[in-house]
Amino acid sequence: MTVSHTPTTTPPTTSTPGSAHLPPAGWHPGSWQDRPAAQQPDWPDPRVLRRTTEALALQPPLVLPDEILGLRRELAGVAAGEGFLLQAGDCAERFASCTEDDVRGKLRVILQLAILLTFGAGLPVVKVGRIAGQFGKPRSRPTETVDGVELPAFRGDIVNGPEFTPEARRPDAERLLRGYHHSSAALNVLRALTLGGFADLDQVHAWNQEFVRRSAAGRRYEKAADDITWALRFMSACGVDTGAQPELHQARLYTSHEALLPHYEQALTRYDENRRAWFDTSAHLVWIGDRTRQLDGAHVELLSGIANPLGIKVGPSTAPDELRALCERLDPHRTPGRLVLISRMGAGRVGDLLPPLLRAVGDAGHLPVWTCDPMHGNTFVSDSGYKTRRLSDITAEVTDFFAAHAREGTHPGGVHLELTGDDVTECLGGDLDEVVDETLGTRYETACDPRLNAAQSLELAFRMGDILRAHLGGPA
Ligand code: PEP
Ligand code: CO
Repeated sequence: MTVSHTPTTTPPTTSTPGSAHLPPAGWHPGSWQDRPAAQQPDWPDPRVLRRTTEALALQPPLVLPDEILGLRRELAGVAAGEGFLLQAGDCAERFASCTEDDVRGKLRVILQLAILLTFGAGLPVVKVGRIAGQFGKPRSRPTETVDGVELPAFRGDIVNGPEFTPEARRPDAERLLRGYHHSSAALNVLRALTLGGFADLDQVHAWNQEFVRRSAAGRRYEKAADDITWALRFMSACGVDTGAQPELHQARLYTSHEALLPHYEQALTRYDENRRAWFDTSAHLVWIGDRTRQLDGAHVELLSGIANPLGIKVGPSTAPDELRALCERLDPHRTPGRLVLISRMGAGRVGDLLPPLLRAVGDAGHLPVWTCDPMHGNTFVSDSGYKTRRLSDITAEVTDFFAAHAREGTHPGGVHLELTGDDVTECLGGDLDEVVDETLGTRYETACDPRLNAAQSLELAFRMGDILRAHLGGPA
Protein backbone atom coordinates (compact mmCIF):
# COMPACT_ATOMS: atom_id res chain seq x y z
CA MET A 1 0.00 0.00 0.00
CA THR A 2 1.26 3.47 -0.82
CA VAL A 3 0.08 6.70 0.62
CA SER A 4 1.28 9.99 -0.79
CA HIS A 5 0.52 13.69 -0.86
CA THR A 6 -0.65 13.80 -4.41
CA PRO A 7 -2.77 11.39 -6.38
CA THR A 8 -0.85 10.15 -9.43
CA THR A 9 -4.21 9.42 -11.00
CA THR A 10 -6.99 12.00 -11.28
CA PRO A 11 -8.17 13.05 -7.81
CA PRO A 12 -11.49 11.55 -6.80
CA THR A 13 -14.61 13.32 -8.00
CA THR A 14 -18.26 12.61 -7.42
CA SER A 15 -18.07 9.94 -10.12
CA THR A 16 -15.00 8.05 -8.84
CA PRO A 17 -16.08 4.40 -8.47
CA GLY A 18 -14.91 2.42 -5.47
CA SER A 19 -13.65 5.42 -3.50
CA ALA A 20 -13.58 4.97 0.27
CA HIS A 21 -14.71 8.59 0.59
CA LEU A 22 -15.53 11.24 -1.98
CA PRO A 23 -14.45 14.70 -0.84
CA PRO A 24 -16.74 17.65 -1.58
CA ALA A 25 -16.17 19.52 -4.86
CA GLY A 26 -13.17 21.86 -4.66
CA TRP A 27 -11.71 20.17 -1.58
CA HIS A 28 -7.98 19.55 -1.32
CA PRO A 29 -5.81 18.99 1.79
CA GLY A 30 -5.00 22.73 1.94
CA SER A 31 -8.48 24.09 1.15
CA TRP A 32 -9.07 24.77 4.87
CA GLN A 33 -6.57 27.63 4.60
CA ASP A 34 -9.23 29.84 2.96
CA ARG A 35 -11.48 29.49 6.02
CA PRO A 36 -11.31 31.00 9.49
CA ALA A 37 -9.55 28.65 11.89
CA ALA A 38 -10.62 29.01 15.53
CA GLN A 39 -8.31 28.26 18.47
CA GLN A 40 -5.02 28.66 16.60
CA PRO A 41 -1.78 29.74 18.25
CA ASP A 42 -0.12 32.91 16.98
CA TRP A 43 2.82 31.14 15.38
CA PRO A 44 5.49 33.85 15.66
CA ASP A 45 7.62 32.80 12.69
CA PRO A 46 5.91 31.64 9.46
CA ARG A 47 9.23 30.31 8.12
CA VAL A 48 9.59 27.86 11.01
CA LEU A 49 5.98 26.78 10.51
CA ARG A 50 6.57 26.16 6.79
CA ARG A 51 9.86 24.33 7.37
CA THR A 52 8.25 22.11 10.00
CA THR A 53 5.17 21.21 8.01
CA GLU A 54 7.40 20.39 5.03
CA ALA A 55 9.48 18.10 7.23
CA LEU A 56 6.34 16.50 8.64
CA ALA A 57 5.04 15.84 5.16
CA LEU A 58 8.13 13.69 4.51
CA GLN A 59 7.52 11.47 7.52
CA PRO A 60 5.86 8.07 7.14
CA PRO A 61 2.17 7.76 8.07
CA LEU A 62 1.53 6.89 11.73
CA VAL A 63 -1.45 4.68 10.89
CA LEU A 64 -2.47 3.09 7.60
CA PRO A 65 -5.67 3.37 5.54
CA ASP A 66 -6.57 -0.31 6.02
CA GLU A 67 -6.53 0.14 9.79
CA ILE A 68 -8.59 3.32 9.52
CA LEU A 69 -11.20 1.57 7.40
CA GLY A 70 -11.13 -1.36 9.85
CA LEU A 71 -12.19 1.02 12.59
CA ARG A 72 -14.87 2.51 10.34
CA ARG A 73 -16.29 -0.98 9.78
CA GLU A 74 -16.26 -1.72 13.50
CA LEU A 75 -18.00 1.58 14.19
CA ALA A 76 -20.66 0.73 11.61
CA GLY A 77 -21.41 -2.33 13.76
CA VAL A 78 -21.63 -0.16 16.86
CA ALA A 79 -23.96 2.29 15.11
CA ALA A 80 -26.18 -0.65 14.17
CA GLY A 81 -26.49 -1.59 17.86
CA GLU A 82 -24.07 -4.52 17.70
CA GLY A 83 -21.27 -3.10 19.81
CA PHE A 84 -20.13 -0.42 22.21
CA LEU A 85 -17.40 2.20 21.83
CA LEU A 86 -15.00 2.96 24.66
CA GLN A 87 -12.95 6.06 23.88
CA ALA A 88 -10.69 7.04 26.74
CA GLY A 89 -7.39 8.52 27.83
CA ASP A 90 -5.77 11.74 28.89
CA CYS A 91 -7.24 15.18 28.46
CA ALA A 92 -3.79 16.31 27.34
CA GLU A 93 -0.90 13.93 26.89
CA ARG A 94 2.54 15.28 27.77
CA PHE A 95 5.59 14.61 25.61
CA ALA A 96 7.42 13.41 28.73
CA SER A 97 4.74 10.83 29.46
CA CYS A 98 4.97 8.93 26.18
CA THR A 99 6.94 6.28 28.04
CA GLU A 100 6.44 2.53 28.22
CA ASP A 101 5.18 2.78 31.79
CA ASP A 102 2.68 5.46 31.02
CA VAL A 103 1.32 3.84 27.87
CA ARG A 104 1.11 0.50 29.69
CA GLY A 105 -0.79 2.16 32.56
CA LYS A 106 -3.36 3.69 30.24
CA LEU A 107 -3.75 0.51 28.21
CA ARG A 108 -4.20 -1.49 31.41
CA VAL A 109 -7.16 0.55 32.65
CA ILE A 110 -8.73 0.68 29.18
CA LEU A 111 -8.49 -3.12 28.93
CA GLN A 112 -10.06 -3.47 32.38
CA LEU A 113 -12.97 -1.21 31.48
CA ALA A 114 -13.46 -2.87 28.12
CA ILE A 115 -13.57 -6.37 29.57
CA LEU A 116 -16.06 -5.27 32.24
CA LEU A 117 -18.28 -3.68 29.59
CA THR A 118 -18.01 -6.74 27.33
CA PHE A 119 -18.79 -9.03 30.23
CA GLY A 120 -21.55 -6.77 31.59
CA ALA A 121 -23.27 -6.04 28.30
CA GLY A 122 -22.43 -9.10 26.23
CA LEU A 123 -21.41 -6.80 23.38
CA PRO A 124 -18.06 -6.41 21.62
CA VAL A 125 -16.30 -3.25 22.77
CA VAL A 126 -14.37 -1.16 20.26
CA LYS A 127 -11.45 0.48 22.05
CA VAL A 128 -10.14 3.89 21.00
CA GLY A 129 -7.52 5.72 23.06
CA ARG A 130 -7.09 9.45 23.46
CA ILE A 131 -3.49 8.50 22.95
CA ALA A 132 -0.42 8.79 20.72
CA GLY A 133 -1.19 12.34 19.56
CA GLN A 134 -3.62 14.01 22.01
CA PHE A 135 -1.30 16.95 22.61
CA GLY A 136 -3.15 20.11 21.50
CA LYS A 137 -5.74 21.88 23.66
CA PRO A 138 -8.42 24.46 22.88
CA ARG A 139 -8.65 27.09 25.62
CA SER A 140 -11.50 29.21 26.92
CA ARG A 141 -9.17 32.28 26.94
CA PRO A 142 -6.20 32.93 24.62
CA THR A 143 -4.12 34.40 27.43
CA GLU A 144 -3.58 33.82 31.13
CA THR A 145 -2.87 36.58 33.67
CA VAL A 146 -0.97 35.93 36.90
CA ASP A 147 -0.12 38.79 39.28
CA GLY A 148 -0.79 41.32 36.55
CA VAL A 149 1.43 39.53 33.98
CA GLU A 150 -0.39 38.39 30.81
CA LEU A 151 1.05 35.55 28.70
CA PRO A 152 -0.34 33.27 25.98
CA ALA A 153 -2.33 30.34 27.43
CA PHE A 154 -0.75 26.88 27.49
CA ARG A 155 -2.17 25.10 24.42
CA GLY A 156 -0.56 21.72 24.95
CA ASP A 157 2.98 20.40 24.46
CA ILE A 158 2.58 20.40 20.68
CA VAL A 159 2.29 24.22 20.76
CA ASN A 160 4.10 25.66 23.81
CA GLY A 161 5.25 24.85 27.35
CA PRO A 162 3.15 25.03 30.53
CA GLU A 163 5.64 27.04 32.63
CA PHE A 164 4.47 30.60 33.20
CA THR A 165 7.39 32.34 31.45
CA PRO A 166 7.39 34.28 28.15
CA GLU A 167 9.88 31.78 26.64
CA ALA A 168 7.84 28.69 27.52
CA ARG A 169 4.53 30.17 26.45
CA ARG A 170 5.79 31.35 23.07
CA PRO A 171 4.26 29.02 20.43
CA ASP A 172 7.00 27.04 18.69
CA ALA A 173 6.10 25.32 15.41
CA GLU A 174 9.02 22.90 15.79
CA ARG A 175 6.94 21.27 18.48
CA LEU A 176 4.67 19.92 15.72
CA LEU A 177 7.50 17.69 14.58
CA ARG A 178 8.30 16.66 18.14
CA GLY A 179 4.61 15.81 18.58
CA TYR A 180 4.85 13.50 15.59
CA HIS A 181 7.89 11.69 17.02
CA HIS A 182 6.35 11.28 20.47
CA SER A 183 3.17 9.92 18.85
CA SER A 184 5.27 7.49 16.88
CA ALA A 185 7.10 6.31 20.02
CA ALA A 186 3.86 5.86 21.98
CA LEU A 187 2.27 3.99 19.10
CA ASN A 188 5.25 1.67 18.86
CA VAL A 189 4.89 0.66 22.52
CA LEU A 190 1.14 0.36 22.12
CA ARG A 191 1.43 -1.96 19.13
CA ALA A 192 3.92 -4.18 20.98
CA LEU A 193 1.80 -4.34 24.14
CA THR A 194 -1.45 -5.14 22.34
CA LEU A 195 0.12 -7.90 20.25
CA GLY A 196 2.19 -9.42 23.03
CA GLY A 197 1.24 -11.16 26.26
CA PHE A 198 0.13 -8.06 28.16
CA ALA A 199 -3.29 -7.85 26.46
CA ASP A 200 -3.91 -11.63 26.72
CA LEU A 201 -7.16 -12.46 28.52
CA ASP A 202 -5.07 -14.81 30.67
CA GLN A 203 -3.75 -11.59 32.21
CA VAL A 204 -7.17 -10.34 33.29
CA HIS A 205 -6.19 -10.56 36.98
CA ALA A 206 -2.80 -8.97 36.40
CA TRP A 207 -4.44 -5.82 34.94
CA ASN A 208 -5.73 -4.98 38.41
CA GLN A 209 -3.32 -2.87 40.43
CA GLU A 210 -2.61 -3.14 44.10
CA PHE A 211 -4.19 0.19 45.05
CA VAL A 212 -7.34 -0.59 43.05
CA ARG A 213 -7.73 -4.00 44.74
CA ARG A 214 -8.40 -2.23 48.02
CA SER A 215 -11.56 -0.53 46.66
CA ALA A 216 -15.00 -2.13 46.45
CA ALA A 217 -14.87 -1.75 42.64
CA GLY A 218 -11.43 -3.41 42.64
CA ARG A 219 -12.75 -6.36 44.63
CA ARG A 220 -15.76 -6.63 42.34
CA TYR A 221 -13.33 -6.61 39.42
CA GLU A 222 -11.45 -9.57 40.96
CA LYS A 223 -14.74 -11.48 41.11
CA ALA A 224 -15.55 -10.64 37.47
CA ALA A 225 -12.01 -11.70 36.47
CA ASP A 226 -12.57 -15.05 38.27
CA ASP A 227 -15.82 -15.51 36.33
CA ILE A 228 -14.10 -14.69 33.02
CA THR A 229 -11.28 -17.13 33.74
CA TRP A 230 -13.87 -19.77 34.61
CA ALA A 231 -15.85 -19.04 31.43
CA LEU A 232 -12.67 -19.57 29.38
CA ARG A 233 -12.10 -22.89 31.15
CA PHE A 234 -15.73 -23.83 30.41
CA MET A 235 -15.19 -23.05 26.74
CA SER A 236 -12.10 -25.22 26.51
CA ALA A 237 -13.88 -28.00 28.41
CA CYS A 238 -16.52 -27.84 25.67
CA GLY A 239 -13.81 -28.44 23.10
CA VAL A 240 -13.13 -24.87 21.93
CA ASP A 241 -9.42 -24.49 21.29
CA THR A 242 -9.11 -21.18 23.16
CA GLY A 243 -5.34 -21.09 22.57
CA ALA A 244 -5.97 -20.79 18.84
CA GLN A 245 -8.29 -17.77 19.06
CA PRO A 246 -6.24 -14.60 18.50
CA GLU A 247 -9.15 -12.49 19.81
CA LEU A 248 -8.51 -13.95 23.27
CA HIS A 249 -4.80 -13.24 23.25
CA GLN A 250 -4.43 -9.89 21.54
CA ALA A 251 -6.24 -6.59 21.74
CA ARG A 252 -6.72 -3.74 19.33
CA LEU A 253 -6.54 -0.20 20.60
CA TYR A 254 -7.18 2.41 17.92
CA THR A 255 -5.78 5.93 18.36
CA SER A 256 -7.55 9.29 18.35
CA HIS A 257 -7.03 12.95 19.13
CA GLU A 258 -8.70 16.29 18.58
CA ALA A 259 -7.75 17.59 15.12
CA LEU A 260 -7.08 21.03 16.54
CA LEU A 261 -4.06 22.08 14.48
CA PRO A 262 -4.87 21.90 10.77
CA HIS A 263 -1.24 22.47 9.72
CA TYR A 264 -0.28 19.24 11.46
CA GLU A 265 -3.25 17.25 10.17
CA GLN A 266 -2.76 18.49 6.61
CA ALA A 267 0.89 17.40 6.58
CA LEU A 268 -0.16 13.87 7.53
CA THR A 269 -3.10 13.70 5.13
CA ARG A 270 -2.17 11.34 2.31
CA TYR A 271 -3.82 9.95 -0.80
CA ASP A 272 -4.21 6.19 -1.07
CA GLU A 273 -4.31 4.91 -4.63
CA ASN A 274 -5.91 1.59 -3.74
CA ARG A 275 -8.76 3.13 -1.78
CA ARG A 276 -8.96 6.16 -4.07
CA ALA A 277 -9.37 8.40 -1.06
CA TRP A 278 -7.58 10.77 1.29
CA PHE A 279 -6.69 9.66 4.81
CA ASP A 280 -5.44 11.61 7.78
CA THR A 281 -2.70 9.20 8.82
CA SER A 282 -2.03 10.94 12.19
CA ALA A 283 -4.63 8.74 13.98
CA HIS A 284 -7.41 6.30 13.21
CA LEU A 285 -10.11 8.66 14.41
CA VAL A 286 -9.90 12.44 14.71
CA TRP A 287 -12.51 14.66 16.26
CA ILE A 288 -13.70 18.25 16.08
CA GLY A 289 -14.00 19.98 19.45
CA ASP A 290 -16.99 21.88 20.76
CA ARG A 291 -15.15 25.16 20.11
CA THR A 292 -14.08 24.44 16.52
CA ARG A 293 -17.17 22.94 14.92
CA GLN A 294 -18.18 26.05 12.91
CA LEU A 295 -19.87 24.91 9.71
CA ASP A 296 -17.80 27.26 7.53
CA GLY A 297 -14.64 26.97 9.58
CA ALA A 298 -11.27 25.46 8.72
CA HIS A 299 -11.63 22.32 10.86
CA VAL A 300 -14.88 21.18 9.29
CA GLU A 301 -13.49 21.89 5.80
CA LEU A 302 -10.34 19.83 6.37
CA LEU A 303 -12.14 16.85 7.88
CA SER A 304 -14.89 16.83 5.25
CA GLY A 305 -12.44 15.46 2.68
CA ILE A 306 -10.78 12.61 4.58
CA ALA A 307 -12.07 9.06 4.83
CA ASN A 308 -11.35 8.55 8.57
CA PRO A 309 -14.19 8.12 11.03
CA LEU A 310 -14.83 11.56 12.54
CA GLY A 311 -15.90 12.57 16.01
CA ILE A 312 -17.90 15.74 16.65
CA LYS A 313 -18.28 17.11 20.16
CA VAL A 314 -21.90 18.09 20.69
CA GLY A 315 -22.27 20.58 23.55
CA PRO A 316 -25.36 22.22 25.06
CA SER A 317 -25.31 25.13 22.58
CA THR A 318 -25.80 22.79 19.57
CA ALA A 319 -29.14 23.42 17.87
CA PRO A 320 -30.76 20.48 16.02
CA ASP A 321 -30.58 22.32 12.67
CA GLU A 322 -26.95 23.14 13.20
CA LEU A 323 -26.10 19.51 13.94
CA ARG A 324 -28.09 18.34 10.93
CA ALA A 325 -26.11 20.75 8.72
CA LEU A 326 -22.81 19.53 10.19
CA CYS A 327 -23.74 15.90 9.58
CA GLU A 328 -24.69 16.77 6.00
CA ARG A 329 -21.29 18.43 5.47
CA LEU A 330 -19.28 15.61 7.03
CA ASP A 331 -21.38 12.60 6.09
CA PRO A 332 -23.12 13.46 2.81
CA HIS A 333 -23.02 9.84 1.64
CA ARG A 334 -24.64 8.49 4.85
CA THR A 335 -21.74 6.10 5.46
CA PRO A 336 -22.39 3.88 8.49
CA GLY A 337 -19.62 4.34 11.06
CA ARG A 338 -18.42 7.61 9.54
CA LEU A 339 -19.62 9.82 12.42
CA VAL A 340 -19.20 9.53 16.15
CA LEU A 341 -21.39 12.16 17.81
CA ILE A 342 -20.02 12.84 21.27
CA SER A 343 -22.71 14.35 23.48
CA ARG A 344 -21.22 16.44 26.35
CA MET A 345 -24.15 18.25 27.87
CA GLY A 346 -23.67 18.07 31.65
CA ALA A 347 -25.58 16.13 34.28
CA GLY A 348 -29.17 17.29 34.54
CA ARG A 349 -29.24 18.65 30.97
CA VAL A 350 -28.71 15.65 28.71
CA GLY A 351 -32.25 14.30 29.24
CA ASP A 352 -33.77 17.46 27.70
CA LEU A 353 -31.12 18.42 25.18
CA LEU A 354 -30.30 15.05 23.60
CA PRO A 355 -33.66 13.74 22.26
CA PRO A 356 -34.27 16.55 19.71
CA LEU A 357 -30.73 16.01 18.40
CA LEU A 358 -31.22 12.24 18.13
CA ARG A 359 -34.37 12.85 16.10
CA ALA A 360 -32.82 15.54 13.86
CA VAL A 361 -29.88 13.33 12.90
CA GLY A 362 -31.90 10.13 12.56
CA ASP A 363 -34.61 11.79 10.44
CA ALA A 364 -31.90 13.03 8.06
CA GLY A 365 -30.83 9.42 7.41
CA HIS A 366 -27.45 9.34 9.20
CA LEU A 367 -26.46 6.34 11.29
CA PRO A 368 -23.81 7.72 13.68
CA VAL A 369 -22.39 6.20 16.80
CA TRP A 370 -23.89 8.25 19.64
CA THR A 371 -21.57 8.39 22.58
CA CYS A 372 -21.59 10.14 25.95
CA ASP A 373 -18.75 12.33 27.18
CA PRO A 374 -19.81 12.86 30.81
CA MET A 375 -16.63 14.81 31.58
CA HIS A 376 -16.64 18.17 29.78
CA GLY A 377 -20.09 19.38 30.81
CA ASN A 378 -19.39 18.72 34.50
CA THR A 379 -16.19 20.67 35.18
CA PHE A 380 -16.09 23.31 37.92
CA VAL A 381 -13.60 24.99 40.21
CA SER A 382 -13.83 23.71 43.79
CA ASP A 383 -13.60 25.86 46.93
CA SER A 384 -9.92 24.95 47.21
CA GLY A 385 -9.31 26.29 43.69
CA TYR A 386 -8.86 23.02 41.73
CA LYS A 387 -10.60 22.39 38.42
CA THR A 388 -12.51 19.20 39.17
CA ARG A 389 -15.50 16.95 38.44
CA ARG A 390 -17.71 14.82 40.67
CA LEU A 391 -17.87 11.10 39.96
CA SER A 392 -21.55 11.33 40.95
CA ASP A 393 -22.24 13.92 38.17
CA ILE A 394 -20.32 11.79 35.66
CA THR A 395 -22.36 8.72 36.60
CA ALA A 396 -25.60 10.72 36.51
CA GLU A 397 -24.91 12.04 33.01
CA VAL A 398 -24.15 8.54 31.68
CA THR A 399 -27.31 7.19 33.34
CA ASP A 400 -29.48 9.94 31.81
CA PHE A 401 -27.83 9.45 28.41
CA PHE A 402 -28.81 5.76 28.46
CA ALA A 403 -32.34 6.66 29.60
CA ALA A 404 -32.78 9.18 26.75
CA HIS A 405 -31.78 6.51 24.21
CA ALA A 406 -34.14 4.00 25.79
CA ARG A 407 -37.01 6.49 25.41
CA GLU A 408 -36.10 7.31 21.80
CA GLY A 409 -35.43 3.73 20.75
CA THR A 410 -31.84 4.52 19.69
CA HIS A 411 -28.61 2.77 20.60
CA PRO A 412 -26.45 4.31 23.35
CA GLY A 413 -23.27 3.55 21.43
CA GLY A 414 -20.48 4.39 23.80
CA VAL A 415 -18.66 6.56 26.30
CA HIS A 416 -15.83 9.06 26.01
CA LEU A 417 -13.78 9.39 29.20
CA GLU A 418 -10.78 11.25 30.55
CA LEU A 419 -8.96 8.81 32.80
CA THR A 420 -5.60 7.51 33.85
CA GLY A 421 -4.32 4.25 35.25
CA ASP A 422 -2.62 6.16 38.08
CA ASP A 423 -3.82 6.78 41.60
CA VAL A 424 -4.46 10.51 41.05
CA THR A 425 -6.80 12.74 43.07
CA GLU A 426 -8.34 14.95 40.41
CA CYS A 427 -12.07 14.05 40.43
CA LEU A 428 -14.19 14.06 43.60
CA GLY A 429 -15.78 10.88 44.96
CA GLY A 430 -15.07 7.18 44.65
CA ASP A 431 -15.29 4.47 47.22
CA LEU A 432 -11.53 4.14 47.77
CA ASP A 433 -10.17 6.87 50.05
CA GLU A 434 -13.00 9.06 48.73
CA VAL A 435 -11.47 12.14 47.11
CA VAL A 436 -12.83 15.28 48.79
CA ASP A 437 -12.02 18.92 48.22
CA GLU A 438 -9.36 18.88 50.96
CA THR A 439 -7.51 15.93 49.36
CA LEU A 440 -7.63 17.07 45.71
CA GLY A 441 -4.12 18.51 46.06
CA THR A 442 -2.56 15.17 47.15
CA ARG A 443 -1.86 13.89 43.64
CA TYR A 444 -3.35 16.42 41.25
CA GLU A 445 -1.18 15.75 38.18
CA THR A 446 -3.19 16.53 35.05
CA ALA A 447 -1.82 18.85 32.37
CA CYS A 448 -5.34 20.07 31.62
CA ASP A 449 -8.70 18.61 32.75
CA PRO A 450 -9.24 16.38 35.82
CA ARG A 451 -9.22 12.64 35.07
CA LEU A 452 -10.83 9.66 36.76
CA ASN A 453 -8.31 7.46 38.56
CA ALA A 454 -8.26 3.70 37.94
CA ALA A 455 -10.59 2.84 40.88
CA GLN A 456 -13.11 5.56 39.97
CA SER A 457 -13.04 4.37 36.35
CA LEU A 458 -13.87 0.79 37.39
CA GLU A 459 -16.73 2.01 39.57
CA LEU A 460 -18.18 3.83 36.57
CA ALA A 461 -17.65 0.82 34.30
CA PHE A 462 -19.64 -1.45 36.63
CA ARG A 463 -22.47 1.06 36.66
CA MET A 464 -22.44 1.26 32.84
CA GLY A 465 -22.25 -2.51 32.46
CA ASP A 466 -25.29 -2.90 34.71
CA ILE A 467 -27.33 -0.32 32.79
CA LEU A 468 -26.34 -1.73 29.41
CA ARG A 469 -27.22 -5.24 30.49
CA ALA A 470 -30.65 -4.06 31.66
CA HIS A 471 -31.06 -2.01 28.44
CA LEU A 472 -30.29 -5.08 26.32
CA GLY A 473 -32.45 -7.41 28.36
CA GLY A 474 -29.57 -9.47 29.81
CA PRO A 475 -29.79 -11.40 33.12
CA ALA A 476 -29.78 -9.17 36.23
C1 PEP B 1 -11.57 17.64 25.30
O1 PEP B 1 -12.11 16.63 24.86
O2 PEP B 1 -10.54 17.63 26.01
C2 PEP B 1 -12.26 18.95 25.06
C3 PEP B 1 -11.60 20.10 25.12
O3 PEP B 1 -13.55 18.79 24.82
P1 PEP B 1 -14.68 19.79 24.27
O4 PEP B 1 -14.26 20.20 22.89
O5 PEP B 1 -15.90 18.93 24.28
O6 PEP B 1 -14.77 20.94 25.22
CO1 CO C 1 -10.55 17.64 28.40
